Amino acid sequence: MPPTVYIENLSEHVDTEVTLRGWLYNKRESGKIAFLQVRDGTGTVQAVVVRSQVAEGVWQQAAETSQETSLRLTGSVRADERAPGGCEIQVSALQVLQAAAGYPITPKEHGVDFLMDRRHLWLRSAQQHAVLRVRSKVVQICRNYFHDRGFTLVDSPILTALSVEGTSTLFETDYFGRSAYLTQSGQLYQEAGAMALGKVFCFGPTFRAEKSKTRRHLTEFWMLEPEIAFASIDDVMDLIEDFISSVVRGALDRCAPELAELERDTARLQQVVPPFPRIHYDDAVRLLQEAGEDFEWGNDFGARDETIISEQYDRPVFINRFPARIKPFYMQPDAERDDLVLGCDLLAPEGYGEIVGGGERIHDLELLESRLRDHGLPLEPYQWYLDLRRYGSVPHSGFGMGLERVVAWITGRRHIRECIPFPRMIGRLEP
Ligand code: 4AD
Ligand code: MG
Repeated sequence: MPPTVYIENLSEHVDTEVTLRGWLYNKRESGKIAFLQVRDGTGTVQAVVVRSQVAEGVWQQAAETSQETSLRLTGSVRADERAPGGCEIQVSALQVLQAAAGYPITPKEHGVDFLMDRRHLWLRSAQQHAVLRVRSKVVQICRNYFHDRGFTLVDSPILTALSVEGTSTLFETDYFGRSAYLTQSGQLYQEAGAMALGKVFCFGPTFRAEKSKTRRHLTEFWMLEPEIAFASIDDVMDLIEDFISSVVRGALDRCAPELAELERDTARLQQVVPPFPRIHYDDAVRLLQEAGEDFEWGNDFGARDETIISEQYDRPVFINRFPARIKPFYMQPDAERDDLVLGCDLLAPEGYGEIVGGGERIHDLELLESRLRDHGLPLEPYQWYLDLRRYGSVPHSGFGMGLERVVAWITGRRHIRECIPFPRMIGRLEP
């Protein structure tokens, strides 16, 4: 019995017989010879069936096999430099496991809505497969980065009683007769974690009822959120810069085949090395005004503004120190200018927008209470959070990285909906 192997390992079996299990991706056939492109999740290989060299039953199966039919085949592995993966298979036996009829996603072009409605099948297409592989590897790189530096994973809850990033995007649900919300950010719990464990992070799904359709917003997205006791905004910008460049380097090292499949211009990613420019909010405003934009000091940047700013640089750029009124209640005021807070956003190059938001948190009890009131938030649900300022409060900082935006940038996808297996957006809850 030939060994059953994965396509990714075929090159270890050159000139021997193996069995593969997978799905038919594509097929060309001439009456005498059939070229089956077979995928098994780990890769794709060309399986060649020569009519004169196989039993007639095998030929019939090969000739009738349709796209996405599941099958098992046996054949000998031949080295072929021109083939992706360096091998092809000369088929001797083929067995259909389930014949797929009328697979809806054909090699022709389909509209995005058509594909999104069939997301559960679309994931099998080569480019979607590549994006999911990059996402998986990026998650692993991110986790390793923080574990390797002594951070402790502290999972934040998904169901909470409070808002972090403003009340307008809360998803509310009934919690045994009272209101609960799906978390917008794990940050407040990471602040408790940092006071207990020093350097902590969480990495999980977060939710925002984003009511507009954009290519950068999901209603459910994954966020990585580190928090560090005694750290300042400058410490956190140093960390973000080192972290983001490590993630990009790691993706370049470990995702070369996927980035090639996606035709990503990796030269742009090679430029992502420290130091990242750090520009003050005031200077970002000036930059926009000098570019002829009608932008007023005190406003928040929109997608177009972010693109104009990031286009000035070949690598990610920080904007730091924002007007207090456009940022959440927890941000520490700038000691030099009380109309500003110590927040920082990192904008990706090439128009991918804000990928990281973070900064220094208020550590003084009375100031935090007054900011909560200014934001019209009820103090009651925040009592546990205020305790962190009652019992050994220290300056601390952290940030949140949006996973899908980072994956969109690394893979060069225009829209972040392709960067999560099953996207949730306004108007999309299925599949
Ligand atoms: O800037 P944001 O809102 O910051 C926070 O939530 C902080 N509490 C994080 C922290 O300091 N611990 O969100 C952080 C990042 C953004 O930079 C963006 O990358 C991503 O999360 N993000 C979204 N990604 C996809 N869809 C959305 N609707 C997003 N909203 C934010
Ligand atoms: Mg932000």
